[in-house]
Amino acid sequence: MAKTFYVTTPIYYPSDKLHIGHSYTTVAADAMARYKRMTGYEVMFLTGTDEHGQKIQRKALEVGVSPKEYVDRMAVDIKKLWEILKITNDKFIRTTDDYHEKAVQNIFKKLYEKGDIYKGNYEGWYCTPCESFWTESQLVLGKCPDCARDVELTTEESYFFRLSKYAGRLIDLMESGTFVQPASRANEMLNNFLRPGLDDLCVSRTTFNWGIPVEFDPGHVIYVWIDALSNYITALGFLSEDDTLFKKFWPADVQLVGKEIVRFHTIIWPAILMALDVDVPKQVFGHGWLLLQGGKMSKSVGNVIDPVILVDLYGADAIRYFLLREVPFGADGLFSNEALINRINSDLANDLGNLVSRTLTMAEKYFAGSIPRDKTATKFDDDLINTVLALPKKLEVLMNELQFSTALKDIWAAVSRANKYIDETMPWILGRDESKRSELAGILYNLVETIRIVSVLISPFMPETPVKIFSQLGIKSDFEKSYESCTVWGGYDHGNVIIRGETLFPRIDADKELKKLEELKTEKKEYDGKELISYDDFAKLDLRVAKVIDAKKAEKSDKLLVLSIMVGDVKRQIVSGIADKYSPEDLIGKKIIILYNLRTAKIRGIESQGMLLAASEGDELVLLGTDKDIPEGTPVR
Ligand code: MSP
Repeated sequence: MAKTFYVTTPIYYPSDKLHIGHSYTTVAADAMARYKRMTGYEVMFLTGTDEHGQKIQRKALEVGVSPKEYVDRMAVDIKKLWEILKITNDKFIRTTDDYHEKAVQNIFKKLYEKGDIYKGNYEGWYCTPCESFWTESQLVLGKCPDCARDVELTTEESYFFRLSKYAGRLIDLMESGTFVQPASRANEMLNNFLRPGLDDLCVSRTTFNWGIPVEFDPGHVIYVWIDALSNYITALGFLSEDDTLFKKFWPADVQLVGKEIVRFHTIIWPAILMALDVDVPKQVFGHGWLLLQGGKMSKSVGNVIDPVILVDLYGADAIRYFLLREVPFGADGLFSNEALINRINSDLANDLGNLVSRTLTMAEKYFAGSIPRDKTATKFDDDLINTVLALPKKLEVLMNELQFSTALKDIWAAVSRANKYIDETMPWILGRDESKRSELAGILYNLVETIRIVSVLISPFMPETPVKIFSQLGIKSDFEKSYESCTVWGGYDHGNVIIRGETLFPRIDADKELKKLEELKTEKKEYDGKELISYDDFAKLDLRVAKVIDAKKAEKSDKLLVLSIMVGDVKRQIVSGIADKYSPEDLIGKKIIILYNLRTAKIRGIESQGMLLAASEGDELVLLGTDKDIPEGTPVR
């Protein structure tokens, strides 16, 4: 039977656009998935979206669409982002998928029947944005300890999960082996949560309804963590008619999460699984945060980095390389444009890019792209060959520890070794001497072979670059692109014809580029002197077609008209300063566009319930209407 490997990312909240921080986890999971596939595993790589809860419901309300419409739209964008970043997830789960909802109801029922879920009363402090309940003692200065925002005291009838029952087993789990990585996070869980003692967990809510209803008590919806965490097994068909994938892939080999949700994944999640009599995942890896100079990346602070823009400028491979190379996985790290450009210039353009372009230029110059079979060795060969051939074993160890940064560092050490090999062997001198042709052929072969093997090995991290390199090297066979071919020297086929192509990573003019990125940032904030708004901002405006049924001049004012309008079958009154452009008779019967959800205001003592729209510049003023007749009340979008 094939070896299997199951890797997951958190399912992301589709409440806002995802930023580079979310991309970080998904790119890491993708590198892992690609590496395991390359090394012969049958892989299941799962990501998705966590679509229920009060926050999403509120967000949708703000925008004026149903929660389902809202998450449908967001899920499309998220899937697009993963395509742009070359993510190869095998499944994308949405917690609004029918099969998930059904399975979560089954899970809830099963735990209830077993007595691990029971009904009680909940009193606690609730932070809506974080969707978290806190006890009095957890609050910091009376505010949410996570986000420092206001919390509300809430009491309600709720279902509870007997988390406390599993405390002993959780402590054993945490103390044994490598369930939580890095190990420091396991200690944190033990000291901060497990040893002080666990309370039972509130797992249903009655205060909102955007969630999966408890099947046997439909006034309750299943509260976020049972719904969200279960995705990792419902995606595989757990408690459904077909659980083949579950049998095949569970327990997960590694579940990647950011450090802020390690608690949920290493305490609540294994406890739920224990209650279900299901194995716990082999490992939960809590990685660090990508921070910005000055702190956290956050939508509310408005300092998020958009991965779509970065990929557009530098390509998916450069961004993926940066994310995986810059910060040791597990630790916090800084994201900055300077650091990104620096990595691209030094590691990609300089080290790898130069190795490829120097080697291929010489192969074309000295051998018209076909390296002869007749080769002589040099005294520098062994060190290069040994460095390169040692890579697969090193990678195996490092990848199993999710040490992406060190893995890339080691591959780049081989790239540097090869650049040094060029300096040592000085092919340009041999090239002048006809009698040194076989030595020259040997040197170029070793360089090409190095580039070939390096290309195979970087493909989990940077999937696009190897394809370009293979094509320039004239490689046709699958064997030369395979992982197996990386352990023995000599896989590169002499029949291949090298044709140098475009530069892999053009050098970036750092000063110019940083300025451009800075401008992009301000351009995003400002447009024509005004603030740029999001679609969500725009969607707050309720614009409608209205019909003017009556109009008269306002008393004591020669500027103002008082219009009676119909919006559907609602009658309203609007005061507008257009009396010097339109007479009342001009307007009666006309269809105009109004802002319907403007707060009522008094203009010169007369109540105005909305505002009409007009195009105006200087003395010019024209009312906005519709191109064709359309019933009053129709929304304008
Ligand atoms: N929906 C929950 C997870 C449920 S999993 C059963 C959630 N979603 S989230 O959209 O807020 O995504 C959080 C995850 O995104 C983090 O755990 C982390 O993987 C990633 N990151 C978000 N911002 C990040 C950084 N600034 N840096 C690194 N990773 C970050 O929580």
